[in-house]
Order: sequence, then structure tokens, then C-alpha cells
Amino acid sequence: METTQKINIKEAKPNEIGGIITGIDIRDLSPESEEIIEIRRAIYRNKLVVIRNQDFTPSQYVDFTKKLGTPQVYFQKNYHHPDFPEIFVSSNVNKEGEKVGVAGTGHYWHTDCQFEQNPLSFTSITPIIIPKTIRETRYINMHQVYNNLPDHLKEFVKDATLIHGGNNRYKVTPEDIDKSIQQLIDKMNEMVPFVKHPAVIEHPVTGDKILYASRGFTMKFDGISYEENQKILNELFDFIEKKEHIHAHSWEKGDLIIWDNRYLLHMSSPLAAGDKSKSYRIGIYDDQPFYVGL
Ligand SMILES: [Fe+2]
Repeated sequence: METTQKINIKEAKPNEIGGIITGIDIRDLSPESEEIIEIRRAIYRNKLVVIRNQDFTPSQYVDFTKKLGTPQVYFQKNYHHPDFPEIFVSSNVNKEGEKVGVAGTGHYWHTDCQFEQNPLSFTSITPIIIPKTIRETRYINMHQVYNNLPDHLKEFVKDATLIHGGNNRYKVTPEDIDKSIQQLIDKMNEMVPFVKHPAVIEHPVTGDKILYASRGFTMKFDGISYEENQKILNELFDFIEKKEHIHAHSWEKGDLIIWDNRYLLHMSSPLAAGDKSKSYRIGIYDDQPFYVGL
């Protein structure tokens, strides 16, 4: 049943990220409702939003993402929920010896699907099993990083092109048994060839300039030597990952977290030995170009 709801948004403080949304039940929203429009706007303004106190089934989760945009079906099947291919499962909990989803995902700075021609605009995540120890994801606001860049780096990235790839992060699957490392590299190159994107992108809705680079997926600058690349990339990544740029976001049962991959790098926290964790993620295309000019 779709009912009228009173959406309440607590905005992020200046130079912070993360708005808090309460007062709605995502199961009851209609696609073009004021609440859906407000949620989308809140994501662009706050870079990340947390919708609190939700309780939904996997099927209702997929339905909600269809109201916000177009849910992604991730290109590697080993991450899929058995009944809903849109749901990407991060889990180290296996039921009766059966492996579902992938463990140890995203422990490095990255933005989702940066290695694709048309990267993923929004990522949503909801915890299913909450670890007892650390319950957080870390983020870096790359618009803020761009603004803070020292002059020589800002000048360097201004008109530069970066090349991205996901090959180094490939997780082997049962079908990969007996393949050589070279065969795996060839398989990945075929599945996800390297892509080029501008080093500085312009957000299609807000017009903000954003540095679009991550240690996880960015391979090199186009058109300069290996040695020059090593020097400039290390300097750039060390600057990006400075302590003052890192925002830690902790989450609770009932949270649905959605962020804009154009603005934010993210990294999951390592899990303590023996601790259990499981989360569902759905990537959402917001039906805008990823950046102006794409
Ligand atoms: Fe990720």
C-alpha cells in the first residue's frame, strides 16, 4: 500500500558527508513520489544518506531501487544473491557449507565500477549480519580533495586522462581452478578492458568538480612514462588518503545507506578474526550521465 509519508532529512554539517533520513518506509513509496525525488536530491547534496529504521525483504529492496533508478546486475555471478541477481552479497557466513556471495570485498580505496565505460552512479548497502567489532565504512569526498589539491597537482590533473582497470582485484571463482595466472589475466582483460576517464570530472547535477582517481582501480595517467606515473600517482594517492580527508561512517541494523560514487571513494573496514559479517548491496544507475561530456 502506498501512503503519504513525512520525510525528515537531517543534513550533513558543512564539509561533512552523510544526511540522515527518517519518517519513511521504503516499501510504501511510489516511483515518482515527492519522497523519491527528495531522496535523490538529498544524495546529491549530502553525497551519502542513511535511511533509518527500515525492515524489508530482498524482493522489496530490489523494488525500492527500481523507484530510484535502474538497479545494476553485477557482471560477476559469484557475487549474486541466489534469487535476486541485482543483490550483490558480501559475506563470510556460509549456510551448511554452501558458499553465497564473496568475502573480504573492498578493503582498499575505490569507487564502484570505475573500471567500466559507464561507471555506477549510486551504491546502496544494508547490513544483514552486523559484526561484533568494527561496524563502519570509510569515505573520502573527492570534491573536497580536488579543492584542497596543492597548485602543482591541480595543474597536473586539470586536463589529464586516467586509465582504470579492475584486474588486480579479481576474485578467483571455482571455474578458475587449473587456470594459469596468465589465463586469468587474459580472461579479465577480455571481460573488463581498461577504460579512460578524465582525471577531473564535472558532476551532471551539481556541476561540482571532482577528482576521479583511486588507488584501487586507477592504473596510470595516459601519455606519460612508467617512471613519471609512479612518482605522480604515489604523491596523488598519498594526498587523497590523508587522515583529514577520511570520514568514518558507522552503521546499525535497519540502516539503508546510499551514496554517490562520483563524489566518494570508499573502503570497508577489516573484520576481526572470527567475526561474522554479511551485507546486501544494490548498485543503482540514477539515469544521469556519470559526468558531463560522457
Ligand atoms: Fe565498493
